[in-house]
Amino acid sequence: MEVFECIRSRRSIRKYKDKQVPWDDIVTIMQSGKYAPSAGNLQNWKFIVVKDDGKRKAIAEASLQQWWMEQAPIHIAVIGDPEKSEKFYGARGRRLYMIQGVAAAIENMLLTAHSLGLGTCWVGAFDEDEIRRLLSLPEQVDVHAIITIGYADETPETPPKYRIEHMMFFEKWWGRIESPKTHLGWWSVANEKMVRDGAKLVKKTGNKLKEKVKKKVSEYQKKK
Ligand SMILES: Cc1cc2nc3c(=O)[nH]c(=O)nc-3n(C[C@H](O)[C@H](O)[C@H](O)COP(=O)(O)O)c2cc1C
Repeated sequence: MEVFECIRSRRSIRKYKDKQVPWDDIVTIMQSGKYAPSAGNLQNWKFIVVKDDGKRKAIAEASLQQWWMEQAPIHIAVIGDPEKSEKFYGARGRRLYMIQGVAAAIENMLLTAHSLGLGTCWVGAFDEDEIRRLLSLPEQVDVHAIITIGYADETPETPPKYRIEHMMFFEKWWGRIESPKTHLGWWSVANEKMVRDGAKLVKKTGNKLKEKVKKKVSEYQKKK
């Protein structure tokens, strides 16, 4: 699958078929997490694969009772070790780099699963202490997400997404385009047309206004 198409068509799946996921696919998904970028190439994350029925049920309960999670035959808990980030990069490492690296790994995993014909959901709402207890985690690590994986038993519509124009600026915060031609390439065709139509309208309105003023002036002069 072409990368952009994979990104565009991925959906969060919350209904799964009762069908096991091949182990090779699970490993490929984790490999894709492994290849994510990380500050200083620290790769300070771990993946815990959960297949056990009872444990998945407990995870669903600990995830604010998102019971649909239980149906997914695989859960992968994504764990970050912030100590390493802090050691090399201080507060910025702990607060930003750790989270960004793990998020990149998670997204890689979602996309790889989708390209393999699998459905996933990124779950972030859970009682961290409870997940920590269920997975016997040491104190120094954090649970960033639970990824549910399985064969989708639903085809969700694309949820509303903002138009790109809502989220892009030029050169600075709230920077608008000065020259559509140079900034937008072929995107500028529509903008150029809009500008041209606008200019035509202004000219037309201006001409009409000019005629009106002329008429009024000549009427006034005649009266005089
Ligand atoms: C940090 C994060 C936490 C999320 N937590 C949950 C969650 O707890 N439960 C859930 O059903 N979906 C969760 N989602 C999935 C979002 O609801 C979903 O991505 C969003 O509605 C857009 O839908 P899409 O993924 O199909 O584009 C989470 C997504 C992110 C990035």
